[in-house]
Amino acid sequence: MTTGSVLALDLVVAVLAAAGWLGGGAAAATGRRRLALGVGAAALLATLARAATTIALARAGWWFAAEKVIIAAPLSLAAVLVAGPRLVRPPADIRPAAVALLFAGYAHTAALLVTVLHGYPVSAGAALLAVAGVAAATAVTWRFLGARPSRTVARAAVVVSLAALVTGTGLAVTTGAAPGVPHAHGHRDEPTVGAPTKRFTLTAASAVVTANGRDVAAWAFNGQVPGPQLTATVGDVLEVTLRNQDIDRGVTLHWHGYDVPNSQDGVPGVTQAAVLPGQEFVYRFHADQAGTYWYHTHAASDLGVRMGLHGVLVVHPGPVTGVDVTVPVHALAGHPLPAPSVAQVRAGEPVRLRLINTDSTTHRYALAGASFRVVAIDGADLRDPPPLADTAVLIPAGGRYDLAFSAPATPVALSVDGRAVWSTGPVTAVTSGWPVLDPLGYGAATPAPWSRFDQELTLVLDRGLDLRGLLPRYAHTVNGAADPDIPPQVVRHGAVVKLRIVNRSLVVHPWHLHGHHVLVLSRDGTPSTGSPLWLDSFDVRPGEVWEVAFHADNPGMWANHCHNLPHADAGMTLHLMYA
Ligand code: C2O
Ligand code: CU
Repeated sequence: MTTGSVLALDLVVAVLAAAGWLGGGAAAATGRRRLALGVGAAALLATLARAATTIALARAGWWFAAEKVIIAAPLSLAAVLVAGPRLVRPPADIRPAAVALLFAGYAHTAALLVTVLHGYPVSAGAALLAVAGVAAATAVTWRFLGARPSRTVARAAVVVSLAALVTGTGLAVTTGAAPGVPHAHGHRDEPTVGAPTKRFTLTAASAVVTANGRDVAAWAFNGQVPGPQLTATVGDVLEVTLRNQDIDRGVTLHWHGYDVPNSQDGVPGVTQAAVLPGQEFVYRFHADQAGTYWYHTHAASDLGVRMGLHGVLVVHPGPVTGVDVTVPVHALAGHPLPAPSVAQVRAGEPVRLRLINTDSTTHRYALAGASFRVVAIDGADLRDPPPLADTAVLIPAGGRYDLAFSAPATPVALSVDGRAVWSTGPVTAVTSGWPVLDPLGYGAATPAPWSRFDQELTLVLDRGLDLRGLLPRYAHTVNGAADPDIPPQVVRHGAVVKLRIVNRSLVVHPWHLHGHHVLVLSRDGTPSTGSPLWLDSFDVRPGEVWEVAFHADNPGMWANHCHNLPHADAGMTLHLMYA
């Protein structure tokens, strides 16, 4: 069983335990003895099952189990100690057992809420609020069911719950109080890049574009979605003028995967101000990384990218030989782009397909009719990639894979999620059952470039209640906080940094650090054994732990976020800064 499925199972048994104890208590209160005992016994079983899932999660990593061990386990132990004897030796009249069973129900509900709303890391505030809730609910129940606790017991319950409530709320509201995003004033200087050798102008405007033969309202660069492809050769100096015609939310250009100087990174509020209607901003940088990249707005990026403000950036290492095609995949208002195209390719011609996922979720690509190699991922060449056949690739949100092959005499076809997007003729192949390439074991290894790390950083991804904004929201969190309250992580210039990303949520998070490519070290403790993988976008699935490393060689204030952009918008964004 994967850690991801244990996380899901744990949630299920936690709900069953809470519901079971509450249901048993309600049955007891109304004097239904057999029902109360049956449901109570089921609750006891669910409680034992949660002990098992908690142990399994603790073994997979403390991040997955911390609050379950420290807060939920003592609560359920108390519940079992109080309610258990009533089940084992039930009184003839079950009604007096109701308070004990309901207490167990409150304890399990509190434990469940701690996991669902609070998660990692454990905090004293959450523990105290849980205890306060259980004590208060039990006291009220006691009163309501007519049982007469002694005055001392009643007073003690009131005092304990009030004290816990006040302290817990205080701690929950004040801990880690809003660090905000310190602005990177030191890195705004225009880099000296020399005279531009390639100039482009991108004008953002609302437009009606055609997708699948339908007119769709979009936001477009130069009237098209995707925007114009920017092509350069290593050694070029790019100058891109961004103009905003009428996008009220503002626009910027972020060069996804291109490790430009911080001032050119295009993150509004961090590296520049958003470009408002009527304004412009000029980006200049050296094209010194070859490969497949893309650009997109980073202002209101969830909406902006979805509406169409993105395009392809390809930097060639030298003169182009053979067929070189870019396939940027995007869902525009529910219409999948690109429209299918059929190319004329001579047998024996070298073909390079540059696959780009500009959506917020993973896509599955399959190339039928030829054996191929994955020659680059996220712009970086792989070392000695062996040929693949009848194998699909999964590309995370924001990621790119370059496939290369020599055109056979018979047709080939590339499909995305089962839909043909590029082909050289009709191909009838069912690709849905194909295995998926695991890049961590593909290609030839080289010795690690670093033998030790100067710093280690950890990001624990989860969901939780975020109370610090104007309206409470169920945020996507990093280390228990949501943007803008996640403290920036600080690295020293020149340090080799190990970054650990732990996903304790139930959904995939495609992780993306700006300004640096990260080298994959391991996933779930299993080292990467194939070609070195220098990625800028990688899927961290539920229950996974990725260890990656990077060289802190590009000073500035860098966004570090989930590239499922609705998640980034709902809190899962933090910053990396240089000391
Ligand atoms: Cu492609 Cu911060 O994003
Ligand atoms: Cu995410």
